[in-house]
Amino acid sequence: MKIQRILLMSMAFAATQLFAQEVHRFDIDTQKSIATVQPTMYGVFFEDINFGADGGLYAEMVENRSFEFPDRLMGWNIFGNVEVRDDKPAFSKNPHYVRLTDVGHDQKFTGIENHGFFGMGIKKGMKYDFTVYGRLAAAQGKNGKIRVELIDLSDNIITKGEFPITTPQWRKYSLTLISPVTNTKAFMRIYLGSADGVDLDYVSLFPEDNWHGLRGDLVKALEDLHPGVFRFPGGCIVEGTDLATRYQWKNSVGEPEERPFNENRWNYTFASRLYPNYFQSYGLGFYEYFLLSEKIGAEPLPVINCGMACQFQNNDSDKNAHVATADLQPYVQDAIDLIEFANGPVSTKWGKLRADMGHPQPFNLKLLAVGNEQWGKLYPERLEVFVKAIRNQYPNIRIIGSAGPDSEGKNFDYAWPEMKRIGVDLVDEHYYRNQQWFLNHADRYDSYDRKGPKVFAGEYACHIDGKNSFMSALCEAAFMTGLERNADVVNMATYAPLFAHVDGWQWRPDLIWFDNLRSVRSVNYYVQQLYSLNKGTNVLSLTMNGKAVKGQSGLYASAVWDKSRKVYICKVANTTNKEQKLELVLDGVKKLSGGTVTVLHSDYMDVQNTLDKPQNVIPRINNLSVSGNELNTTIGAETFVVYVFNK
Ligand code: AHR
Repeated sequence: MKIQRILLMSMAFAATQLFAQEVHRFDIDTQKSIATVQPTMYGVFFEDINFGADGGLYAEMVENRSFEFPDRLMGWNIFGNVEVRDDKPAFSKNPHYVRLTDVGHDQKFTGIENHGFFGMGIKKGMKYDFTVYGRLAAAQGKNGKIRVELIDLSDNIITKGEFPITTPQWRKYSLTLISPVTNTKAFMRIYLGSADGVDLDYVSLFPEDNWHGLRGDLVKALEDLHPGVFRFPGGCIVEGTDLATRYQWKNSVGEPEERPFNENRWNYTFASRLYPNYFQSYGLGFYEYFLLSEKIGAEPLPVINCGMACQFQNNDSDKNAHVATADLQPYVQDAIDLIEFANGPVSTKWGKLRADMGHPQPFNLKLLAVGNEQWGKLYPERLEVFVKAIRNQYPNIRIIGSAGPDSEGKNFDYAWPEMKRIGVDLVDEHYYRNQQWFLNHADRYDSYDRKGPKVFAGEYACHIDGKNSFMSALCEAAFMTGLERNADVVNMATYAPLFAHVDGWQWRPDLIWFDNLRSVRSVNYYVQQLYSLNKGTNVLSLTMNGKAVKGQSGLYASAVWDKSRKVYICKVANTTNKEQKLELVLDGVKKLSGGTVTVLHSDYMDVQNTLDKPQNVIPRINNLSVSGNELNTTIGAETFVVYVFNK
């Protein structure tokens, strides 16, 4: 980290020493709004990567609950007489189930056990809802019984319960278990407790503190970000490793029991972090995504497949990888039907499904992305077909196209003119770059065409050694002053990826980390939160010596006015290793009446927030006393500060 720190300092600001004592005067013109900050400006992007959905946000604790993984018993250990079958199933789209029959010896047992996702985390005093679909295995059977136990790794029973299975027809059974202890790596064992055999399917266990099936602590972490937009469900999983495994939203709605499993595109990505048990149950599907958007107060932004499989995993020259433009119709129809599902009256086919699922009111969808991270000629050809069809039927939906995976270069340069030609409303840019890039590109949007499509910075993160750190967060904070200054062009921005399971990640850094019981907000999370809470409504001009502050003296700054809170907000990142003197002058204001100052700082650049030490670096807020219309202050070395001035 020492080397990187030196690099950061030399690149960002070689002449720190020279200016250490200089007073930097920032002029903030409070009299004129230079841009409107869109309510969508700072948001979140969710993808089922790093076990973000199954094993993460989706609170289901049983892996492969429907026995539908290609290896039907993956995730399960079996003992005694257990057979996988699919005759006369409970669910037509998930037909496999297990039959448990008696071994015929007093000292032998039949049963199955599931270790969940990297173990099952259970909490003292928490109720757990166990449900299963069951029937007697034989039509002439009478008294089936199963016993359910939660067990620790030393094989001690933590809690248990049992119930009879009484009919040869499929029926849902349930049981509530209360844990007397906390255990991070428990597992579940189910015994056959009768001479009569039983069939079991859709074996499920949820903690009672879930919200619509989602983990309470993770939902809260999203709510606390106050995001303006919620992009889902990906990411590369929208594309799939092949078209067969692309994300198909229609498979993710309706009764969860009938949502067919899908392989996760992140299953095979990195040989060093291979998770061949990574599948999508779709228990967290499009209905839940829309509900969650509502809950966290964000505009929903679904991404749909544009007829292309993941371009990182397929060659454009492979005729079978992508759908021919002539055959796009079903894909386009999926997009049209999605809008009906979200917004259509209950009298329509898809609007009715939404109502049947519990939400007769429309979700008021306004944004739709066609394709995730596409590049080259094949994409615009397909995008055009979608844009025409969507505009024809739903002219008010704002369509988002992709600028590809690179922040600049050949593919990027090809994409933008194409996006303009096609006339998408926003272009989704992605950049996972290092600290130098972030500090050097705070002026990225200053020269963007004001008449073209708007920008959605849909995936970005500062990558330093592939880890979250205070340094990466500080670089993002500095860069984001440039997003804010250009809010007339940049209408939305979302950090990526959002979630990661500490035992099952494929990609890092990530905004929020978790294990089966706890979660931790990264330092990067707090930068996003500070921007979001203080996004304001109007951008104000902030200059030092007549120029925007975008790296001079290692400083980065932006200012906004918030018309509902009636406050002026100034964000400053000092990326040098020296404290610096600032004079913030709010031109046009006679007298300010105090305010607050929120500081994000660490003496250690590589420090992270961890599950054990979640508060290593968190924002600290204090009151601010101001005289007249200016503040003379000092910003610490390597510090991000948000000043809020009451009008
Ligand atoms: O965020 C991780 C991945 O990065 C996304 O799935 C993809 O869009 C990008 O390549």
